[in-house]
Amino acid sequence: MRIAVLIHLLGVIVWMGGMFFAHVCLRPVAAAQLPPPQRLPLLAAVLGRFFVAAGVAIVAILVSGLLRFGDIGGAATPWRWHAMAGIGSVMMLIYLLIVLRYYPRLTAAVAAQTWPAGGAAMDAIRKLVLTNLVLGVVTIAVAVTG
Ligand code: HEM
Repeated sequence: MRIAVLIHLLGVIVWMGGMFFAHVCLRPVAAAQLPPPQRLPLLAAVLGRFFVAAGVAIVAILVSGLLRFGDIGGAATPWRWHAMAGIGSVMMLIYLLIVLRYYPRLTAAVAAQTWPAGGAAMDAIRKLVLTNLVLGVVTIAVAVTG
């Protein structure tokens, strides 16, 4: 089922590309050029849109990946598929940690205009996104070279 692989890769591109853009392009420039009362509402709004897109991408990655597992069947599946599913699951848990714990803290701090709390939440999100970015590169390397 090549369509499942296509959906899988499109999901990976959206998720990884979005994290790369947020971490490498958006946040450093916003941090350098905007004070917290402008930076944090901007980042909260941009990340809110991205996390919705990433959520859809993650469901697509998971369903399409599991469909391919189902096609081939248990013992015949290569070890790199299992490694990918393992690291991919950790990435998904980290995503859930961000959207269920730290992103609500960021939006609450922005609404209350408590900038130090917002900065702390944003810092936690930044570290977790960086972690997922690194894990994603490892996952892709395992997937294509293992
Ligand atoms: C629990 C989550 C995941 C499962 C169950 C899963 C499963 C799979 C399976 C079964 C394939 C093989 C498709 C085929 O060749 O027919 C595949 C391919 C691939 N996956 Fe995943 N995957 C998951 C997460 C991820 C993540 C998070 C990434 C990257 C960040 C990723 C990147 C890739 C890539 C690049 C390929 C293409 C490999 C190639 O064609 O050589 N996967 N995945």
